[in-house]
Amino acid sequence: MATLHIYYGTMTGNAESLATRASERAATEGWESQLHNLADVKPADLASAGLALFVVSTWGDGEPPDDAREFFEELAGTETDLSGLRYAVLGLGDHDYQDFNAFARNLDERLAALGAQRVSERVEADLDFDDTYAQWENTVFPQLGELKATLA
Ligand SMILES: Cc1cc2nc3c(=O)[nH]c(=O)nc-3n(C[C@H](O)[C@H](O)[C@H](O)COP(=O)(O)O)c2cc1C
Repeated sequence: MATLHIYYGTMTGNAESLATRASERAATEGWESQLHNLADVKPADLASAGLALFVVSTWGDGEPPDDAREFFEELAGTETDLSGLRYAVLGLGDHDYQDFNAFARNLDERLAALGAQRVSERVEADLDFDDTYAQWENTVFPQLGELKATLA
C-alpha cells in the first residue's frame, strides 16, 4: 500500500499538532502514514515519497520556522526531479504580518517548479486555524482516496 508522508515545519507546535491530526485522519481512512519534522528531511527524500502533505507555519518576515530553514535552503538550490510527488500544502500564519503565509506559498511554488503535482490547492490558515484545518482535511482526504487506487 502507498504510504502517505506528512511533513511539518513548526516553531511553537501548531503545525505539528495539525500534522498529527492529519496522521490520525489518515489512519481512519486506512492509510499507512509517516509523520516527519522537516528538520529531518532532505529534498531528495521527496523524490521517492510519492504522496505528501505539508503543514507549515511562517516566521520572521515570511521565513520558514527555524527547523525547516535548512530543508528549504536545500530545496531552493536543488534541481531534483519531483515529478513523482503528489502533494498538498496547509500553511499557518497570522494576517497581521505583511508576508502572510509566505513560507507555505514559497514551499508550494518551489515544489511545483520541481515538477511535483498538487492534489489540491494550497490553503492558508490564520491564527484561528481550526475550521480552516477541518475544511482542508475534508477536501484533501477524499482527493487522496481517489488517488489511492492508482498508487497501490
Ligand atoms: C515572531 C513571529 C513572527 C511571525 N511571522 C509571521 C509571518 O511573517 N507571516 C505569517 O503569516 N505569520 C507569522 N507569524 C504567525 C505564526 O505563523 C502563527 O502564530 C502560527 O500559528 C505558528 O505556528 P507554529 O506553532 O506551527 O510555528 C509569526 C509569529 C511570530 C510570533
